[in-house]
Amino acid sequence: MKTLIQGGNVVLKDRIEKCDVLIEDGIITGIGSGLEGDEVIRASGKTVIPGIIDMHVHLREPGFEGKEDIASGSLAAVAGGVTQVCCMPNTDPVCDNAVVVNYIINRAKQVDLCKVRPIGAITRGEQGESLADIGKMAQAGIVAISDDGRSVMNSNIMRLAMEYASDFGLKCLCHCEDKTLVDGGVVNEGYNSTLCGLKGQLRAVEDIMICRDICLSRSLDIPVHICHVSTYSGVDIIRAAKADGVKVTAETCPHYFALTDDIITSFDTYTKVSPPVREERDRLAVIEGLKDGTIDCIVTDHAPHSKKDKEVEYNLAAFGMSGIETSFAVSYTYLVKTGALTLPELMRKMSYEPAKVLGLEGGEICEGGVADIAIVDLDADYVVDGEKFLSKGKNTPFNGCRVWGKVLKTLVDGKVKFDAEKL
Ligand code: DOR
Ligand code: ZN
Repeated sequence: MKTLIQGGNVVLKDRIEKCDVLIEDGIITGIGSGLEGDEVIRASGKTVIPGIIDMHVHLREPGFEGKEDIASGSLAAVAGGVTQVCCMPNTDPVCDNAVVVNYIINRAKQVDLCKVRPIGAITRGEQGESLADIGKMAQAGIVAISDDGRSVMNSNIMRLAMEYASDFGLKCLCHCEDKTLVDGGVVNEGYNSTLCGLKGQLRAVEDIMICRDICLSRSLDIPVHICHVSTYSGVDIIRAAKADGVKVTAETCPHYFALTDDIITSFDTYTKVSPPVREERDRLAVIEGLKDGTIDCIVTDHAPHSKKDKEVEYNLAAFGMSGIETSFAVSYTYLVKTGALTLPELMRKMSYEPAKVLGLEGGEICEGGVADIAIVDLDADYVVDGEKFLSKGKNTPFNGCRVWGKVLKTLVDGKVKFDAEKL
């Protein structure tokens, strides 16, 4: 069957063109005007974007299904225009062996919404002490390794992980946090932490590990990817390393370019995240890093938590924000509407670059490419209400914020997996 997305403003790699997109057997077979299909999706006045590839997501299954599971997380993903997610291994049991990898892949196939690509742990149990079964996980289909949620503090283990992973063509995704320097900090250390009487974390908590992992990458000549960059100084370090030819790539999240730590003065635990939301200087530097190519990708670090884990005092609350349903709208509102990036540039950060960093399919609307596509209405605005999320995690810091860019339909391999009209 031929499906035609008709008359939309189609976001191609470097421009937007009003045209049709023809899909056959899950592949884009035509881009142009006057094309014909058996099934027609009218997109006139709407925008057709490449399906978002969110390479940093916590789906929580197995083990923490009260926070999220593969079904609810996949549904939230397609509702956010996301067609492919890479899920982090800090589950229970930790995804540090092929059995858990196979479980996730099989469960995602049953759910059959977005594509789910597991990330394996670097160390057994994410304990930082001995390497996980990276080879067997590679055979089972992981797309990267990470101990996300914590750093591998032992530099020699990190070195071995990078060397071993690179033999399998896999990258290390580095959560950068010097555990010895955190010392109970729960927010960014600065004016607002003092004002609120909350213990702060220095930027150096993050920057030290960014430096360490860049040093390893440089010495070994092995590519490395820095997760969720939040500090102005981290952006500077990565920029300098790239200019020096180090094979480093980096990602940031919507909360780091849309928010500052002014939000913590509400004491709302939905503002608690690791790394913490920082100051205006950092927010502007993150945007500058996105503009000049220092930061390659936008991901969510979607970290759904239950009410029980958030409705406690600030110091005891879990770190993390539920972000997959708002990432497009928040990014469009804070980066494109402000003129920082064009829409094609934004979609490269949200789709093409993640695919490139991890060697995944998809990432652009082009003839011969997979038909992973979302249709959005850029003129539609709404006020974020986490209670309406399809994710089990209602923990968004954007409650009450007005954003632009509503996801109308999401197609995975040419099949409609989300339709806002049918909600
Ligand atoms: O805030 C966070 N939450 N940061 C992480 O790195 C992990 C995540 C989680 O798993 O909840
Ligand atoms: Zn992390």
